[in-house]
Amino acid sequence: MSTSATAVIQYHQRTKHNLNAYAKGPESLDWDDQPNPFRRFSGCETVDLPLPGVELDCMFADLDKPEQIAARPLTLANIGVLLELSFGLSAWKQFGPDRWALRCNPSSGNLHPTEAYLLCTDPALLAPGAYHYVSHDHHLERRSQFGAGDVQAELYIGLSSIHWREAWKYGERAFRYCQHDIGHALAALSYAAACLGWSVELLSETADSDIAAWLGLDRSDDFVATEHEAPDLFCRLHSDKAASGDFSAAHLSQISQSAEWFGKAERLSGRHFYRWPIIDEVSGHAVKPSTAAERLALPNLDLPPPSHNLAASQLIRQRRSAQHFNGKSADLPLADFQRMLAALLPNSKPPFTAWNWSAQVHIVLFVHRVADLEPGLYLLPRDADAVTELKPICSADYEWQVVDAPFEFYRLTVGNLRQAAKSLSCHQPIASDSAFSLGMLARFTPNVEAEAWRYRRLFWECGMLGQILYLEAEAAGVRGTGIGCFFDDAVHGVLGLKDNDWQSLYHFTIGEPLDDNRLQSFPAYTHLQR
Ligand SMILES: Cc1cc2nc3c(=O)[nH]c(=O)nc-3n(C[C@H](O)[C@H](O)[C@H](O)COP(=O)(O)O)c2cc1C
Repeated sequence: MSTSATAVIQYHQRTKHNLNAYAKGPESLDWDDQPNPFRRFSGCETVDLPLPGVELDCMFADLDKPEQIAARPLTLANIGVLLELSFGLSAWKQFGPDRWALRCNPSSGNLHPTEAYLLCTDPALLAPGAYHYVSHDHHLERRSQFGAGDVQAELYIGLSSIHWREAWKYGERAFRYCQHDIGHALAALSYAAACLGWSVELLSETADSDIAAWLGLDRSDDFVATEHEAPDLFCRLHSDKAASGDFSAAHLSQISQSAEWFGKAERLSGRHFYRWPIIDEVSGHAVKPSTAAERLALPNLDLPPPSHNLAASQLIRQRRSAQHFNGKSADLPLADFQRMLAALLPNSKPPFTAWNWSAQVHIVLFVHRVADLEPGLYLLPRDADAVTELKPICSADYEWQVVDAPFEFYRLTVGNLRQAAKSLSCHQPIASDSAFSLGMLARFTPNVEAEAWRYRRLFWECGMLGQILYLEAEAAGVRGTGIGCFFDDAVHGVLGLKDNDWQSLYHFTIGEPLDDNRLQSFPAYTHLQR
């Protein structure tokens, strides 16, 4: 095994929550010292985007057939809609004197380590250069300008993570959550593009070092040392259905070499009391080099219609995490449950159209209250090999009973698993009071051994699946919540898994939400009324 793969697996092992000890994190939190959730660069020109809040006529069900959605023109106004529906604010919440913003993309602890950038080589749209999106102000900050020369006119979107933002609260385990958030953000972007009749191509061949150079993330003097950004993903936007030319990293590198840079990142935290050096170490070992370009041929699967078919933009803006569930609600209708699960299978629709790798993550479900389905433990395999691989290594007591469903689906055992689900998810009642909760089981060691950076990819895949579940829950008239806090090896113990070949990397829960009436809610962008 390579040194990097060994280091990454050691990081994973060391950041497991155990029933008798949580992964290392700060012993106390000073909320007044929370890193600023909004990064801004001082000394840059800004480009205003038209006021957010435009409702599009595309319905959520239309996203099942994205090729039939009429493409909107590529204008700055529509770019604004794209950015808002992907990374923009969705509401403000207030409790007593505390006020905080929510966004269209979710984030563990609402800390939002993900930053988004545009890279434009299309002078008709924006002066060629790199731009940072500020969700609070809904504007772009021009970080660089360059002459695009005769390079193809394109619009790219890059994503990066400020690990410090997440580590401030979650300590060593934070690197995992940053990756989850990137997966959520990629999926959010893919759904938002589809609402405009556009699509997102993940340029997954790109090396981290190239993304850093193009977006200015490697300009260490522009950042406070402990608040630097790590490059994650780079995508190309397609605003019409016509095929475009091959992507050339060399061309982009050539034009960005002549770039003139502006601005410095403003400090996020007054002080950095706790330090988590393991995060920089694992980040260094999980760096992605340039890889062969991969694109997947996706099947066309017909999904049953969602039961609450809202305008997609409305549904995206209303997405929230449930903080409590009604443990006494009526059973979730089977049709809603089946649509949610079918939406997790690779299909030629968003967000899979922005994903280039075969499924490595499979779903283990703790079913509590779903109509016509006995409570118990179930498995949704997301590829043809998962069952053959998992059967011999999972608990010998499992039934592997085929369940009648529009997809391959197995019952492993019957029983009331509410208490188990809650205990495994760090004793959080959201895992037991819902209609069902689930764990995302990834082929782990073989992937990390093959290429250490795939560690991040596995978490991205989980985050992407989490985003599907968030939106599908809204489309079923219920609500979901991501669960990053769970006792890793206790979950594996319940499944009978004895080594690290398969690991549960993310949990999720869905059901009828209970609102907390003590919280006040305010619209997202009244502070921008110009
Ligand atoms: C990766 C990830 C892990 C999360 N883990 C938990 C969790 O363990 N418990 C919980 O109550 N909420 C969890 N959440 C929900 C976040 O707290 C929530 O997304 C954030 O507060 C923003 O609120 P919103 O989703 O309503 O926009 C998680 C969310 C994400 C994306």
